[in-house]
Amino acid sequence: MTLPLRIALIGAGVMGRQHHQHLQNLAEAQLCAIADPGPQAAEFAAQCGVPCFADHLQMLEQVRPEAVIVANPNALHVSTALDCIAAGVPVLLEKPVGVHLDEVRELVAASERSGVPVLVGHHRRHNPLIARARALIEEGALGRLTTVTALWQVQKPDSYYDIAWRREAGAGMLLTNLIHDLDLLRHLCGEVRQVQAITSNGVRGFANEDSAAVLLQFEGGALGSLTGSDAVAAPWSWELDSGENPVYPRQADQPCYLLAGTRGALSIPQLKRWHYNEAGAGWHQPLQQVQEHFATGEALYRQLQHFVQVARGQVQPLVSAADAGRTLALVEAIRQAAESGQACVPEPL
Ligand SMILES: NC(=O)c1ccc[n+]([C@@H]2O[C@H](COP(=O)([O-])OP(=O)(O)OC[C@H]3O[C@@H](n4cnc5c(N)ncnc54)[C@H](O)[C@@H]3O)[C@@H](O)[C@H]2O)c1
Repeated sequence: MTLPLRIALIGAGVMGRQHHQHLQNLAEAQLCAIADPGPQAAEFAAQCGVPCFADHLQMLEQVRPEAVIVANPNALHVSTALDCIAAGVPVLLEKPVGVHLDEVRELVAASERSGVPVLVGHHRRHNPLIARARALIEEGALGRLTTVTALWQVQKPDSYYDIAWRREAGAGMLLTNLIHDLDLLRHLCGEVRQVQAITSNGVRGFANEDSAAVLLQFEGGALGSLTGSDAVAAPWSWELDSGENPVYPRQADQPCYLLAGTRGALSIPQLKRWHYNEAGAGWHQPLQQVQEHFATGEALYRQLQHFVQVARGQVQPLVSAADAGRTLALVEAIRQAAESGQACVPEPL
């Protein structure tokens, strides 16, 4: 019988605790330690019945976990993951994979050199509805993918910005939120050749953007737009529409991504598909609507199941550090395009 994989948690804040909740339901793994210098960490570790360390290096040395979940602040992601790799411990690293491409390149090289895998927490890719959407596109159900319309329109409560760093340059919704949508767009529609973008801080007036309009040209030829704002009273976003996280009251009938191709169209997350039948195509013909079906399943839980297999060397990470690095490169290209007013090409990794 295989014993449960001993997993440590580095960073036991909001996200770390969500991982812990799912870990409790996973027979294949168990929490073995927490590393977090914060004031609430010791009490939380005591509740979990595991030792607590202020320093993750000490934890790695003394506990020798078989795998680690890293959910500490963004700027620490790469250095912490490098320490885990040096200790030979596979890592589930929260998104964003890093804050600069150069440090991500270092991480990719270290993971490849050592053979210690890194899975990056773009957990939405583990949602069964995304897997089904991707399969439909790959099977050619939409024909040649031609246009992509993505929406991320929400209102964060004003109190969200009481925390100072959230108002500062670089910490805006591009890196915090739109990175999720951009990662899914890459996963579904392929790599992005170039972008154009306009960002604005016109509603909130902080140093970082509260709204953005992005144009995307995909390598496969499709053209896309992504409009985002965290300052609008609107129902179109993955958070509100997908029902993935119950803290966001659901708008189940509203789509956040609309994909259209030469043979069909798909709305996400509803997975309604439209196509013409044998009677003929063209705007005078009635479009047929099909409800596509997909298995149920919780993305964060499925990500953990996958991570156990990655840590045991049974499968390759669904989202490697290099893959997540390409999503970060896309965010950087969008920022650069907004600053320069020019079309920009994402840097290779
Ligand atoms: N996948 C998602 O949808 C999603 C959602 C929210 C947050 N996140 C990511 O999770 C990470 C954490 O975000 P959060 O919202 O939980 O933040 P948070 O502030 O609630 O938690 C961060 C924790 O890290 C701890 N910490 C600080 N320095 C540390 C160190 N040197 N070693 C270990 N722990 C340290 C803090 O004490 C805190 O407990 C971020 O990278 C964020 O982008 C991902």
